[in-house]
Amino acid sequence: MIRKAIIPAAGLGTRFLPATKSIPKEMIPVVDKPAIQYIVEEAAASGIEDVLIITGRNKQTIEDHFDKAYELEDILEKRNKVGELATVRKPAGLCNIHFIRQQEAKGLGHAVLCAKSFVGDEPFAILLGDDLITGSKPCLKQMIDEKERLGGNILATMKVDDCDVDKYGIVDGKRYHERVIQVNEMVEKPALADAPSNQAIIGRYILDSAIFSILEGTEPGKGDEIQLTDAIKKLMDTQNVYAYEFIGKRYDTGNKLGYLKATVEFALNREEFREDFYTYLEELMGETL
Ligand code: UTP
Repeated sequence: MIRKAIIPAAGLGTRFLPATKSIPKEMIPVVDKPAIQYIVEEAAASGIEDVLIITGRNKQTIEDHFDKAYELEDILEKRNKVGELATVRKPAGLCNIHFIRQQEAKGLGHAVLCAKSFVGDEPFAILLGDDLITGSKPCLKQMIDEKERLGGNILATMKVDDCDVDKYGIVDGKRYHERVIQVNEMVEKPALADAPSNQAIIGRYILDSAIFSILEGTEPGKGDEIQLTDAIKKLMDTQNVYAYEFIGKRYDTGNKLGYLKATVEFALNREEFREDFYTYLEELMGETL
């Protein structure tokens, strides 16, 4: 049973400047919802009861988004704007949401370590805010179901093209069944020639709480940051780590092109925009070709 999830959101978002100079990258909307709300919705739809969002300086708007907005709610109520009121109230009602600050952006591993006392000694989930995932069953729920069957630790993975292996952590190991590998090799951002497979780790993990004591002893690695993957590699010495190829589609909204793709596809999936937006895109393509 996985009840707790953490969402590290203290990164600087340098790939999304200048927007991220003053706006947290997690608050940039995809269509009309901040990216981080999609992530909390996925956690809640997967049965998570408590979410800890790890924030940093200049990220207060994330807390505001998941809080009550008394004045706004009062006005909407008086004007009988029922739909808008429900939209405004939704984020705060998704699950119990807690916050902690990572005082310095010392890497994803360091951010995860900030969740040590929140997590205690139970297995927990990590969801990264850059990865928006669509599909009929939430990605995290798929992983929780796998965890129940396999035990151990579960990393969500997907197949990537050869030209992209150097952007991800790549895993290989013993195939368990169609979608599961028991990981025995993990290489961070390898050159194609050194990549053991095309299975790339994306931003969803279910880990045992033993990861915290390992993180405490993990020295800064690449980019002088404490790397989560370095700690997971050590965890593999004592525990099973499985790579689960999730069913669904993932969008990397942490880079500008990925964000544009997500915006277009999420808009096309919205009933109220689909027809007009599709027609507009068709006309636009006709003009450009
Ligand atoms: P990224 O590598 O995407 O870093 O971190 P970033 O700083 O957010 O973005 P760029 O690369 O500069 O554009 C992966 C995840 O880890 C979190 C980020 O918020 C993101 O969700 N993170 C990273 C932290 O919480 N703290 C850190 O010190 C570093």
